Amino acid sequence: MDEKFKTLQVMFEAVLNTSRKLEKSYAQLKRKFEVLEDKLERNRRYLENILKSIDSGVCSIDKNGFITVFNRKACLVFATKEGKVKGKHIGEIFAIEELVEKSACEVVEYFRSESRIELSVRGDKKILSLSASLIFDEDKEDGAVVVFSDITQVERLKEENEKKEKLAIIGQMAASIAHDIKNPLASIELLVPLLDDGSKKEIVDNIMMSIKRINNIVNNTLLFTKTVNYVPEKFSSLDFAKEVEFEVYAQIKNSEIEFEKHIEEFDMVSDRNLLKSAVVNVLANALDFAKNRVSFNVFRRDKKAVFEISDDGCGIDDVDKIFEPFYTNKKNGTGLGLAIVKQAVEILDGNLEIETEKGKGTTFRIVV
Ligand SMILES: Nc1ncnc2c1ncn2[C@@H]1O[C@H](COP(=O)(O)OP(=O)(O)O)[C@@H](O)[C@H]1O
Ligand SMILES: [Mg+2]
Repeated sequence: MDEKFKTLQVMFEAVLNTSRKLEKSYAQLKRKFEVLEDKLERNRRYLENILKSIDSGVCSIDKNGFITVFNRKACLVFATKEGKVKGKHIGEIFAIEELVEKSACEVVEYFRSESRIELSVRGDKKILSLSASLIFDEDKEDGAVVVFSDITQVERLKEENEKKEKLAIIGQMAASIAHDIKNPLASIELLVPLLDDGSKKEIVDNIMMSIKRINNIVNNTLLFTKTVNYVPEKFSSLDFAKEVEFEVYAQIKNSEIEFEKHIEEFDMVSDRNLLKSAVVNVLANALDFAKNRVSFNVFRRDKKAVFEISDDGCGIDDVDKIFEPFYTNKKNGTGLGLAIVKQAVEILDGNLEIETEKGKGTTFRIVV
């Protein structure tokens, strides 16, 4: 019995020893596991922070094209949350029909040929520049990552610059054409009256009026393209109004429009030519757009001179555009008239007031 008990005790101790060793190993393993887990967590957080801080959109997908990562910038561009797009197919989120149901390989292939896409995010057009690469796990394909940036603003600026460049070129061209027309036109203006032998007065008058109109267009174009200096002089409102009327005389005479005027008499100081081109351009538009009546009123208001031109025409519904150079709704318009008015009023340090009602008419007031 003693012998048996001894053997049992030895065996028990052996088991106890082994179990102690096992316990120790387990504790060691646990510690190692904890360290590894900690390291893994730190790595995960590090990666997450990189993805969060990066200024590009990053979207990773699994082998079948389903989204696994959608970083903060990507969410910003798409105005969404990662939770909302995770697990959805990239084709659906990027709204690219050809990509729906496609694998990571095919997605990468697609973005190799299409490095720029346009999409609409909550009604706003966005332009993205993208690149995509396959992700490998020990030589085996394991999804793909798509990196993109929002280039909408850059593209818009580029477009605007191109537009400006085009405008500058057209402006230079217009100026040189206007310049070339000016000289022969001056000769014609001198020679035409000589044709009148007493019987052709009406024809000659008509030609002279047309020449006046061409001259106006040429002067406007030149005024628009060159920098003008402010040259003030003293003059009477009455004389000035007469000069203005003379400039549009042909237009009044050739139409059925009733032209009413009320001119207060006073002296004023301003750049007469600049002011004239502003008032004439507004008046010419009024005569073009009026149905039956145009009125031209000149009066004083708070020590300023007001030139008020009203018509009973169609009214203006694109007020924000009409001052842009080359913007016109007329078949033969230059679209320079109001651009010149705006520039002239600015140089004159004046104000431009507009009241317009669709179908009823328009009133412009130049206040200097
Ligand atoms: N009195 C007005 N009534 C209606 N529309 C007007 C009037 N004045 C200007 N507009 C609009 O503004 C546009 C630009 O005018 P403007 O710069 O003078 O160029 P243009 O006379 O060559 O068309 C016109 O084509 C027209 O559509
Ligand atoms: Mg005009």
